[in-house]
Amino acid sequence: MRLLRPSLALCAALLLGAQDPAPLRLPLPSTAGPSLLAALKGRATARALAGPAPTLPEVGQLLWAAQGENRLGKRVVPSAHAKYPLELYLVTSGSPDLAPGLYHYLPAGHQLARMADGTPQTLLGAVKGMQAWIKDSPAVFMVAGDSSRIGEGASALNLTYYEGGAAAQGLLLQASALGLGAGTAAGVDLEAVARTLRLPKGTQVMTLLPVGHVKP
Ligand SMILES: Cc1cc2nc3c(=O)[nH]c(=O)nc-3n(C[C@H](O)[C@H](O)[C@H](O)COP(=O)(O)O)c2cc1C
Repeated sequence: MRLLRPSLALCAALLLGAQDPAPLRLPLPSTAGPSLLAALKGRATARALAGPAPTLPEVGQLLWAAQGENRLGKRVVPSAHAKYPLELYLVTSGSPDLAPGLYHYLPAGHQLARMADGTPQTLLGAVKGMQAWIKDSPAVFMVAGDSSRIGEGASALNLTYYEGGAAAQGLLLQASALGLGAGTAAGVDLEAVARTLRLPKGTQVMTLLPVGHVKP
């Protein structure tokens, strides 16, 4: 079994708790690794996911692949009118270098802001009817968005969901490239997820992406 050696950053975060005001700077994303074709070949839903939860570099890589900046002010995923309606969140527990809690990704500066204490079990498990494999996963990424940044009505919502799908696939391919197991799930009460996690008003959660190590 891999030993969890808490880093200084983790110890500090645990001491400070959810009040930690300074966002964490994520390690710069790597552009090395298996080919896109190999990642495509390896992508498959994995539902039996064990810890340890993704490390800080892995978390940074996964978030970057879904919504990071790949050039000044622009992102890896295309955006209608470059309005960028997406917001990515993470609930994790058992990472060697990330305190358990709810996090929000800040693409500009590639940073992670800690929003609340909790774990997938306590935060997502509080949602009625939550699928067991989701709350049992060591890390659950969430693709969310605010379609009002694009406009009103069904058209803005469709465009936001289109972007959400592209972001989710980026994260799933990155998980495959990192040798991590992952899946996507939208068959849960996503409005209840947004309410339970107290996400900002107007936020639509589009999918949950559990990530971990595939159980043998
Ligand atoms: C929009 C969408 C919603 C999904 N929701 C769930 C879900 O709620 N629970 C689940 O276990 N799998 C969910 N899945 C995963 C599918 O069941 C899975 O992709 C499908 O069985 C094909 O298997 P594969 O991903 O391994 O290719 C969802 C997939 C998509 C695209």
